[in-house]
Amino acid sequence: MSQTFPPAILYGADYNPEQWPETVWQEDMRLMKLAGVNMVSINIFSWASLEPRPEEYHFAQLDRIMDLLAEHGIMADLATATASPPTWMSRVYPEMLPVTSSGVRLSHGSRQHYCPNSPDYRRKAAMLVERLAERYHAHPALRMWHVNNELGCHISTCYCDTCAEAFRAWLQERYQSLEELNDSWGTAFWSQHYYAWEDILPPRATPTHHNPGQMLDYWRFMSDSLLSCYRQEAEILRRVTPEVPVTTNFMVAHKPVDGFAWAPHLDIISIDQYPHITDPAWEWALTHDVMRSLKGGRPHLVMEQSASQVNWRPQNPHKRPDVLYLQSMQSVAHGADGVLYFQWRQSKAGAELFHGAMLSHEGSEHTRIFQQVARVGADLQRLSPVVVGSRIENEVALVMDWQNWWAVEYQPAPSDLMRYWEELKASYQALYNLNAGVDVVQPDADLSRYRLVVAPLLFLLRPGAAANLERFVARGGILLTTFFSGIVDERYHVALGGYPGQLRKLLGLRVEEFDPILAEMSNQIVIEEGALKGVYPSSLWGEYLHLEGAQAVGTFASDYYAGRPALTVNSYGAGQAWYLATHASADLLTSLLRHMAEQAHVEPILAAPSGIEVTRRRQPDGSQIYFVLNHTIESARLSLPTGTFRSLLDEREVSGEVEVAPRACVVLLA
Ligand code: GAL
Repeated sequence: MSQTFPPAILYGADYNPEQWPETVWQEDMRLMKLAGVNMVSINIFSWASLEPRPEEYHFAQLDRIMDLLAEHGIMADLATATASPPTWMSRVYPEMLPVTSSGVRLSHGSRQHYCPNSPDYRRKAAMLVERLAERYHAHPALRMWHVNNELGCHISTCYCDTCAEAFRAWLQERYQSLEELNDSWGTAFWSQHYYAWEDILPPRATPTHHNPGQMLDYWRFMSDSLLSCYRQEAEILRRVTPEVPVTTNFMVAHKPVDGFAWAPHLDIISIDQYPHITDPAWEWALTHDVMRSLKGGRPHLVMEQSASQVNWRPQNPHKRPDVLYLQSMQSVAHGADGVLYFQWRQSKAGAELFHGAMLSHEGSEHTRIFQQVARVGADLQRLSPVVVGSRIENEVALVMDWQNWWAVEYQPAPSDLMRYWEELKASYQALYNLNAGVDVVQPDADLSRYRLVVAPLLFLLRPGAAANLERFVARGGILLTTFFSGIVDERYHVALGGYPGQLRKLLGLRVEEFDPILAEMSNQIVIEEGALKGVYPSSLWGEYLHLEGAQAVGTFASDYYAGRPALTVNSYGAGQAWYLATHASADLLTSLLRHMAEQAHVEPILAAPSGIEVTRRRQPDGSQIYFVLNHTIESARLSLPTGTFRSLLDEREVSGEVEVAPRACVVLLA
């Protein structure tokens, strides 16, 4: 891929001109210029118009769209159009349609109606992509390829016969022998032994619970199947246009798609982000930190956000004034090099006609939303020359593992309230309050640059994970892990001989029993002395824990494990390993992580009052760009380190302190 991409902060939207008469297109160009648009994603849902009948391809309209963009200096993020096959395909290839676990074959009439393993779908998709690549490889508008759209969004599982066959092939590759598979899945239980590969099925509807090993492998298999759809297209595109970056748009914390496993196959990570108006700013931030981290800190791209309302929640209120502005600036503040919307012009028909767009149904620049959008565009242009090429470097990491996510939410389990993403969010919220910057890493990632690592609910430990965490702490790192960790291995086999298995030495403790705390029960964590002294609520989970070298910092207040440790710390090598045996309140997590950050010598990027977020991007020449985002409705003042800063959005010099207006952003270059 070209090293000079992106040439500027990207700003634009999904552009669907085929929904409009060509007379509207010129007006689109005029308004895009007014809004500061420099890139649009096109062709996302155009397969039906590109191939109206089998093997009859029509590219004339797309040619005109590409030419129009080139004439107006707007870059094309050209999609491969494979997300929604034409209706005739389900007649000609009925087995291409996906099947639910209960055996219902879905129909066309919405979108994504294909089985990811269907050879017909794959062949037809490849033929289309081949033609697109050949036709547009030298087109001046082409700057990025957009594979499919949100792979796995609606159809992340399929249980058809083709998938059953593909699942068996995937398992043969993984286990080599039936003996290995039987051992791994623990099929001695419930008479599930497999004597022939052809007897193995995807986890279709069954009388009761599925085998956990089978479920976990099926999640892995489906993520791999979707990835292989992506890779088939990406390989064609890279062969024809090796210099053009290839992406596909991820969704926020999408459980079926293992972002870390996919990331090496994408040149740029893109994310579609649709926060609800009640979602706090730290939640928007988490999404970016996950996405930026998937490729080790390389700038990501917001491929879609809404200029205001969406249409798919039960009620869809508009974004409040300035929220769009803050969300867009926050994306860049967390490492994005582009912000695009779904979509440019609000549709007049079709399922998304009430979804927001840069240009609303009124069709003019004289709307509140257009004014907001144009303001974002203008400010991104101001930041662009300084920001592009800069990176974020953090000292704090949150551990996330998709395989653990799949495993820990499997039922039956001690509690059906285990929500991995919620536990990650709880830890992230507390880390966000430190204003120190957070990366998101896998358990076996290189942790040498971090001082503080938080690994909540690490139920499934993959090979190497425990040793990696041990190395991190031994060298002086400060680690927090939480309840129900270290329980199973990657085969979903319990660590025998005392929980938390491989983490026992590092944490200096043994968990004899774990026990869900029901909503109608309650417990507390009592901390009798030190910086965290107090009594804090404990919910969801309790444990009957023995110390094996660790110290109890806090204890449970009641129940049969009253007085037993709830929060512990173990000195290990030059560092400390903390363990929280319950779901703690935001209050305690915030104080605990602040305390741990102090021990780890992690400093805030800038000391800031609550509601003010600070991030920092660094240029290779060492210059630093501070983003100060005021998420409150009061103006705020912040003290600055010594020196003079250039305020990039209003071109003035600042020193001593800076004032940030309500729901506004200041960007300072040092
Ligand atoms: C995304 C999708 C877009 C549009 C948008 C609406 O999931 O990629 O095509 O449907 O949602 O919010």
